[in-house]
Amino acid sequence: MSEAKRLAAEKAIEFVEDGMTVGVGTGSTVAYFIDALGRDPGRIKAAVSSSEQSTARLRAHGIEVMDLNHSGNLSLYVDGADEFDPKKCLIKGGGAALTREKIIAQASAKFVCIVDPSKQVPVLGKFPLPVEVIPMARSLVAREILSLTGGQPVWRDGVITDNGNVILDVHNLAITDPVAMETALNQIPGVVAVGLFARRPADVLIIGGDTVQVL
Ligand code: A5P
Repeated sequence: MSEAKRLAAEKAIEFVEDGMTVGVGTGSTVAYFIDALGRDPGRIKAAVSSSEQSTARLRAHGIEVMDLNHSGNLSLYVDGADEFDPKKCLIKGGGAALTREKIIAQASAKFVCIVDPSKQVPVLGKFPLPVEVIPMARSLVAREILSLTGGQPVWRDGVITDNGNVILDVHNLAITDPVAMETALNQIPGVVAVGLFARRPADVLIIGGDTVQVL
């Protein structure tokens, strides 16, 4: 799958314009995108990064990393996903970076999502849904999620997010109405962000493979 990821990432470079400040996601597919940007680091003005991991990789390529508070809204955000459905709704957060990813997606005019074909599903939920939670609310939020969705929340033990929070991965979901699910889970006190990108889905999907599809 890594070749499919690389091909999707290379295609996303076509959306990058000279002098842009580009929003950059997190994960192994995005790592290929950062490396592609790094071939000509002076071409973009800067990047706004969704994780410490991506920040380190961007800086290693000599790309300036800017705070979103200073950049203002962005024209382009490029990120991967753990699952996508036919409406370009996504599950994200396998790398625990969902909250900053969601913030940058919201701040961006165009969200280009780069994936390999294994991420495609008819209905989201086979991949456990990550939810970032304030540590003291972990058990409360788990109980609320169970009663609200019937899904099984599992604490991602040993993982602390870049924001100092914890992750619950919700198993056994079939998310037939992703907007409703995202809205409902967002209301639980202690939830920082839900790894469902349905209210703000991807605008463009690039699926790597023998033939690279741009949808
Ligand atoms: C990071 O928290 C995630 O949202 C990633 O975007 C997602 O896990 C995709 O990862 P890969 O590109 O490594 O498959």
